[in-house]
Amino acid sequence: MNRRLLSLGILAVISGVALAEGESAAPAAPAAAAAAPAAVAGNATAGKGKNAMCQGCHGQPGWRTAFPEVYTVPKLGGQNPNYLVAALKEYKTGERAHPTMQAIAAGLSEQDMVDLAAYYAAAAK
Ligand code: HEC
Repeated sequence: MNRRLLSLGILAVISGVALAEGESAAPAAPAAAAAAPAAVAGNATAGKGKNAMCQGCHGQPGWRTAFPEVYTVPKLGGQNPNYLVAALKEYKTGERAHPTMQAIAAGLSEQDMVDLAAYYAAAAK
């Protein structure tokens, strides 16, 4: 686990991909694919550029949103990236039932999910 976290961090630094906000994700860099053949590698820098639509709800502090009603939202910062990816996949497949998150996850590619997970895992708790 620690090795994987470390390699994710290193990949994020090395590749330093600066995706323009709003653009869809480019395929994983060849170097990333070679380093982690079993899974799509997450890029925290790319994830930061993709989290604009998450921030309204998963924003600090207090972890509350005011839309469509006031309710608390789980904290993502500092979470295990594998957990975050698994959760997003479960929303996408419908294994986890939550209308808002299902709609959001439906629009995310696997690359988007791992990038967002890498970003949130490294974000402040
Ligand atoms: C409209 C508000 C809203 C937006 C926008 C939103 N979320 Fe969520 N999210 C929620 C709520 C509410 C939950 C808790 C749902 C539940 O009970 O299953 C949640 C749950 C999650 C979880 C599971 C957390 C856990 O601890 O199990 C993840 C991961 C997640 N969201 C990621 C994201 C990402 C990534 C984005 C942006 C691409 C995003 N969310 C955008 C409201 C939102």
